[in-house]
Amino acid sequence: MSLFITFEGGEGSGKSTQARALHQRLSSMGIPALLTHEPGGTPLGHEIRRRLKGDRANDKVDVDPLTELLLFNASRAQLLSEVIRPALKSGTVVICDRFFHSTIAYQGYGRGLDLDIIEAANNIATQGLRPDLVVLLDIPVEPGLSRKKLKDRFEREELAFHQRVRQGYLEMAKKDPQRWLLVDGSIPKMETERRIWEEVEQLLPRERKGVEKW
Ligand code: TMP
Repeated sequence: MSLFITFEGGEGSGKSTQARALHQRLSSMGIPALLTHEPGGTPLGHEIRRRLKGDRANDKVDVDPLTELLLFNASRAQLLSEVIRPALKSGTVVICDRFFHSTIAYQGYGRGLDLDIIEAANNIATQGLRPDLVVLLDIPVEPGLSRKKLKDRFEREELAFHQRVRQGYLEMAKKDPQRWLLVDGSIPKMETERRIWEEVEQLLPRERKGVEKW
């Protein structure tokens, strides 16, 4: 049995902290778990990440939105083939900090690229692989952005861009409540962690819950 969990959210939502906490909890229970992230997670993906996020000190690096869509998906295809698929195949729980829903939120709702084109590009990269659970950390845009000191190419986007991204996430979560867990990112971290664990525990096979080994 394989389990694939992704974390999504806007800037400063706390999703990376929560993804790490979940990974630590599973590992400490003796459950094989792997934590990775997008864009990145492989040497090639890391290069793509660096180019896409831009230099925090530099003002503007122009990337055409379609190029951006393809680069995120290039990083995704590499991560899937090198890391995610082999791990899922071996029965490891895979936790990914961002996945293709980020592309729908940022390139679709944020940049305004056609959602059908995004879906086609995402499908080429994922070959239809979908997460079993998507954890969405939702936080209002301004406090989220204010948590970032040096801003990268995305964090420097106007407020309206980030508001559209947030709206996109909320719409996706609403459309598929079976797969999405919507968590208020403003509540205390421990409480967020507890909510996420409650959900993940239900997805683990019975013999794997709370035991030392698989
Ligand atoms: P982060 O992983 O540190 O949050 O940075 C990744 C940035 O890239 C973040 O601003 C969201 C953005 N992004 C997209 O625009 N599209 C995507 O498909 C992914 C995975 C990330």
